[in-house]
Amino acid sequence: MNLRQQIYTILRESEDIVSGEAIRKELGVSRVAVWKHIQAMIKSGIDIKSSTKGYQLKSREDTLFPHEFGIRNDRIHFREELSSTMDTAKELVRKGYEKNRIIIALKQNCGRGRLQREWISGTGGLYVSLVVNPAIPPQEANMVNLLAATEMASTLRTMFALDARVKWPNDILIDGKKICGILSQMEIEGNQLDYLILGIGLNVNNRAEQSVPTATSISALLNRTVSRKDILTGFLDRFEPALEHFDPVTVINEWRKINCTIGKQVEIVTSNERQAGKAVDIDEQGGLVLQQENGQHITVLYGDCFH
Ligand code: BTN
Repeated sequence: MNLRQQIYTILRESEDIVSGEAIRKELGVSRVAVWKHIQAMIKSGIDIKSSTKGYQLKSREDTLFPHEFGIRNDRIHFREELSSTMDTAKELVRKGYEKNRIIIALKQNCGRGRLQREWISGTGGLYVSLVVNPAIPPQEANMVNLLAATEMASTLRTMFALDARVKWPNDILIDGKKICGILSQMEIEGNQLDYLILGIGLNVNNRAEQSVPTATSISALLNRTVSRKDILTGFLDRFEPALEHFDPVTVINEWRKINCTIGKQVEIVTSNERQAGKAVDIDEQGGLVLQQENGQHITVLYGDCFH
């Protein structure tokens, strides 16, 4: 545990105000160091009340320090602020951290969405990238995105009884509003997938709906703050074993059960074309099968989907 996490643990273990002096003594550091770390925690969104008597943790629900993740601790790279967890994930891979890394940020100042869009990443949201190495051919990589979306939607359904639905390819909507987006980048070596970086942005305690009217967040839906750590743990508990025993048929079946795209009239937009039709199914590689007006079926592999 680093110093900041140790200070946080002391505050967490006390219901009352803890003086700067008591923290300083317990950890054998200067009061200025304690003060600096507390200010940084407050800035990153942790609810600490600071007064002349000392410091008190007001809400103990929503932190994301690596040591709170138990056995996953060693695989977690935690930053308070960075440009994008996707860039940090790439950097880590370049440095040789290739296997099952989890990169978490409290804020991103250059968060990216699909099709070169911005992903607004203020305090309270969950911003995470996973570096994964499934032993699958590159053409099945899309299925890993579908798996991630399905498992995240199922996590929200189980934990909060929310009617989370997957929209092709891997958005999650609740009541027609977007709550989660997934971005992926892959690296291929020969005819095998070398690694895949999955970036997940989930609106949790950030009021995304205030800046994007078509979005929603868990706190807006439930009217309370929820624990991002519990959500991420719940998701990883489902996603990691499912990826280890990756089975495309199961992925498709599970995706179908909670999707909100099939049966709808849709338009798929990429940077250079548009396809319209009725969504009738997904194929074995996760492509969306559309029935066009003339009755013909076509399959689209990527793009933005408008219902
Ligand atoms: C989308 O457009 O729907 C995908 C959004 C993905 C956002 C996440 S937040 C964590 C990771 N880092 C990024 O810069 N983007 C992804």
